[in-house]
Amino acid sequence: MSEKKRKIHIFDTTLRDGEQSPGASLTPAEKVKIAKQLECLNVDVIEAGFPASSPGELEAVQMVAAEVRRPIICGLSRMIPRDIDACRKALEKAKRKRLHVFLATSQIHRQYKLKKDKKEILQMAVQNIQYAQKDFRQIEFSPEDASRTEPKFLVETVAAAVDAGATSINVPDTVGYAIPEEFGDLIHLLIRKVPVLGREVVLSVHCHNDLGLAVANSLAAIRAGANQVECTVNGIGERAGNASLEEIVMAIDTRRDFMDCYTDICSREITKTSRLVSHLTGMIVQPNKAIVGRNAFSHESGIHQDGVLKKRQTYEIIDPKKIGLSGSQLLLGKLSGRHAFRERVKKLGFALTEKEIDRAFARFKALADKKKYVFDEDIEALLEEGVVRVPETWELNYLSVRTESGKPPHAEVRLKFKGEIRAASSEGDGPVDACYKAVERITQSGAKLIHYGIQSVTSGKDAQGEVIVKLAVSGKEVTGHGTSTDIIEASVKAYLFALNKRLSQMFPQGTVGPSPV
Ligand code: KIV
Ligand code: ZN
Repeated sequence: MSEKKRKIHIFDTTLRDGEQSPGASLTPAEKVKIAKQLECLNVDVIEAGFPASSPGELEAVQMVAAEVRRPIICGLSRMIPRDIDACRKALEKAKRKRLHVFLATSQIHRQYKLKKDKKEILQMAVQNIQYAQKDFRQIEFSPEDASRTEPKFLVETVAAAVDAGATSINVPDTVGYAIPEEFGDLIHLLIRKVPVLGREVVLSVHCHNDLGLAVANSLAAIRAGANQVECTVNGIGERAGNASLEEIVMAIDTRRDFMDCYTDICSREITKTSRLVSHLTGMIVQPNKAIVGRNAFSHESGIHQDGVLKKRQTYEIIDPKKIGLSGSQLLLGKLSGRHAFRERVKKLGFALTEKEIDRAFARFKALADKKKYVFDEDIEALLEEGVVRVPETWELNYLSVRTESGKPPHAEVRLKFKGEIRAASSEGDGPVDACYKAVERITQSGAKLIHYGIQSVTSGKDAQGEVIVKLAVSGKEVTGHGTSTDIIEASVKAYLFALNKRLSQMFPQGTVGPSPV
């Protein structure tokens, strides 16, 4: 790392402000799990919770403090001794600890929430910072709603907090009100008036996303001289959330030419961390979310896919491997071109001639006109149906399903095998299950159904249903595909297709005996 570049400290508050997302509460064990992953991500500070808020929260912070050793563990506290004492207790076992005290400074909060004047606010801040010094060497002070505080009073409060012993000053845009240029100017002003900020005293920012500007405001603050950002994984948090950790980190990394700073985050852990947080909090990541959304590295248009295949950087500014993904994703659909299709066919293990590719591509385009996405199973089925011929060892001859309310469905199936009709019937949990059981009684294949998917491939009343199944047969997985206007028939056809395919692999020269599988 170049000597000139500044390090930006990543203060993660997923377990405190992130947990304030409506519906996202975490058990102490879940907090520890996330904190351990944040340690792998190499964040500098973990704000583990607000210990005075409940005994369970205090216990959760205690557990994180005892089990996570590398990052600084921080606890949040109001400006009252009872809260500070709760933090002391919660952080007793921490290897490195920080107290984070906050007190609102804006006029609206002073008047309506705290009912205190400026003098009282200043006094409260100074007294409690001094009180905290008996137990804490690292004390962070946040003038809550800083971006709506009169700049002169903000400077006065920050200077008083530094004089009283605060080692970090955090500037919160509590209600996500700031605009990047304006927020950057506020940071410049604070540094000008209190020159230790961003040097001996850490200068931090904490931005909310009410106007969708949390990351932009954080980056503007960094450019203006802030050297710590508070953020959450997936941007979760109170209301519209907090600045997203992964977006800030990857913006700094991708635009290091412009940002001229760095973080110590191990970016390969980003995807894993995002998935863990989403899973444990139940907060689903929107598909188009930058960096960690399902679509963030997916390309749909044929022009883009062709470009990415020729040179990834034509349409991708981040290498997906950098955030722990295996690579870019080309979604095959009606906009995809021949190049992407040929690559996928190769990846699926098919060696086709150019002529075969032409035929398969025409069939693929016809299918893509009917369905939004063409998945790998569809392509396999399409290639096997149209290019690779599968002998119909077992052929559907007759099918009837009886359903009566209150009774399990009953299926009667007849299959043709070497010119001979074999029949069986069965009940099942549903009509498809009854048919599959009857097919199994006849074929004795021992197949296990691994995947069953159904969709309509045409529209209207006589829509064709398309079923794709994946079976495990004699130690191998095979896919099968069946279409019909009757979805039960399509289901049986798909099952038989997969069985016949497996038979053709096991007995390539049509040597299938009387007990085929
Ligand atoms: O948004 C906010 O102001 C906060 C403070 C406690 C830092 O979360
Ligand atoms: Zn906040």
